[in-house]
Amino acid sequence: MLRDATAADFPTILALNEAFVSVLSPLDHGRLARLHAQAALHRVIERDGRVVAFLLVLREGADYDSPNYRWFAQRQARFLYVDRIVVAADAHGAGTRLYRDAFAFARRSAVPVIACEFDIQPPNPASERFHARLGFREVGQQPLYGGSKVVSLQLLDVAAGESPLATSA
Ligand SMILES: CC(C)(COP(=O)(O)OP(=O)(O)OC[C@H]1O[C@@H](n2cnc3c(N)ncnc32)[C@H](O)[C@@H]1OP(=O)(O)O)[C@@H](O)C(=O)NCCC(=O)NCCS
Repeated sequence: MLRDATAADFPTILALNEAFVSVLSPLDHGRLARLHAQAALHRVIERDGRVVAFLLVLREGADYDSPNYRWFAQRQARFLYVDRIVVAADAHGAGTRLYRDAFAFARRSAVPVIACEFDIQPPNPASERFHARLGFREVGQQPLYGGSKVVSLQLLDVAAGESPLATSA
C-alpha cells in the first residue's frame, strides 16, 4: 500500500534512514518533523503492516539548509527535490513505485523538473543505476563534508518526458 506518511511512521522512517545513513545524511526526530512539515510529498509503502520504504520531496521555497537543495534552488525556479528515498533491503521494487508516484505528482502540479543527488565518492552504484534507469542525468557535482564525499547532482525533465516512467504512471 502506497500512502502519505504520518507522524506515527517517524520511528520506522528514522530506522530506515539509519540503516543506510552512510549514503544519506543523518536524520533525527526534530529534523524529520521539520522536513515533513515542509514536504510537497512524503509517501511510504507499507507491506504486511510494516513500512518498508519512504520518499520525501520538497519544492522550491523551502527553508532547508542542505547544500544540495540549495544548489538546485539557485538554478531552478520551479522544481521537486527528492531529499531522500530509502527502500528496505527486502523490498526492492518499492523505489520505482515511489518514483512513479512522484512523476505523477509533478505532472499534476505542473512542476517541470525533478532534482536529486547521489554519492559518487565514495560511490553508491545501486542509486546510480537506479536513477539512470529512471532517466536522470548529471547536471553538476559538488564536494561535501570538506571533500570526504562528492555528490552527483541530477535532474530529470518531467515536462519533456525524459523518463521511461513518465507516461505510464
Ligand atoms: C536506491 C534504492 C532507492 C533503489 O530502490 P529499489 O526499490 O531497490 O529499486 P528497484 O527495485 O525499483 O530497482 C530499479 C533499478 O535500480 C537499479 N538497482 C536497484 N538496486 C540495485 C542494486 N542493489 N545494485 C545495482 N542496481 C540496483 C537496477 O537498475 C534496477 O533495475 P533492475 O531491477 O531492472 O536491474 C534502494 O536500493 C535504497 O534505498 N538504497 C539505500 C538508500 C539509498 O541509496 N537511497 C538513495 C540515496 S541517493
